[in-house]
Amino acid sequence: MYNSRISGLGFFVPDNVVTNDDLSKLMDTSDEWIQERTGIKERRHVIRGKDTTTSMGVKAAKKAIVRAGIDKDDIDFIIFATLSPDYYFPGPGVLVQRDLKIKTVGALDVRNQCSGFVYAISVADQYIKSGMYKNVLVIGSEIHSGGLDFTTRGRGISVIFGDGAGAAVLTREEDLKKGILSTHLHSEGQHAEELSLLAPGMGGRWVTDIIADNDPNDDSYYPIMNGQFVFKNAVVRFSEVIMEGLKKNNLEVKDIDMLIPHQANLRISQFIQNQFGLTDEHVYNNIMSYGNTTAASIPIALTEAWEQGKIKEGDLVVLAAFGSGFTWGSVIIRW
Ligand code: ACO
Repeated sequence: MYNSRISGLGFFVPDNVVTNDDLSKLMDTSDEWIQERTGIKERRHVIRGKDTTTSMGVKAAKKAIVRAGIDKDDIDFIIFATLSPDYYFPGPGVLVQRDLKIKTVGALDVRNQCSGFVYAISVADQYIKSGMYKNVLVIGSEIHSGGLDFTTRGRGISVIFGDGAGAAVLTREEDLKKGILSTHLHSEGQHAEELSLLAPGMGGRWVTDIIADNDPNDDSYYPIMNGQFVFKNAVVRFSEVIMEGLKKNNLEVKDIDMLIPHQANLRISQFIQNQFGLTDEHVYNNIMSYGNTTAASIPIALTEAWEQGKIKEGDLVVLAAFGSGFTWGSVIIRW
């Protein structure tokens, strides 16, 4: 039996900065409304044709591999979390294997949206704990900008999301007091449609119908969100799953050195921070600069926090996510 530890981290965001004022030129919104409700000041959008979900993931992965001090051929398995794959199928995991020119290791795609990275870390951790693999590459990457409605009709959602990628290498750790101590995963499919994209999917609108109708006003292929319902569920599940993880390891809130919440909305993060009585030094947020990047938000935030020296050896680091599904989870790490 082993533990796994995060041995390397990297992230990539496109250069193209889109401010709230830029969005105000496309739809009826304002910098004031967006900042007040979400905390977001700007986000990145890819330049079409320049980057894909996979290419951003590969750029983040290359940094993580170098920082892990391993060679790409030391990677035993690839896990890619995204809701915005380059192709409907195959998923981006195999494209990473191809583009990084890694030998024919297994590649798995996780499609758990906002909790995708936490789920992917949990899967990687199990493979390493069991002894099956030594180094697993985990990527979260998203291009939202290609699939949002940037007219006033879509303003409740399109102002929130941004593009970017983050990656981590998980490596075998022999000291069982170090690395990933536990992971905790949950779902409640009863609320599947509260935050969703219903078409094209064979249960929602059929691709053949969409083509036959050829209706420019068809909005069924844009995401939908019951914002207030998501908010209410998120704050409850975030705190529940963090407490579950702490309890499992006989730890308390005061033991947390760094909490990295999924960057859904600054108001959600602040709610959790206040509820737990944590200071700003103990919670890392960067949604102000990148918006909500779904499966990429935790690895981008974790990498930034680490790069800024805010995470040190021996720290207790907690990752927590909630999102579409609903799915949610936490990861408890002794760095
Ligand atoms: N600019 C200006 N006005 C807007 C915008 C916008 N971008 N979007 C919506 N509005 C308007 C609405 O049309 C509505 O107008 P009306 O009163 O005339 O009908 C008004 O603002 C209030 O709309 P609500 O949807 O009720 O606004 P709310 O206060 O709930 O804020 C928000 C919306 C920010 C989405 C909020 O519900 C929220 O934070 N929800 C949490 C969900 C979340 O953060 N999701 C992120 C992705 S999911 C995830 O990662 C977990």
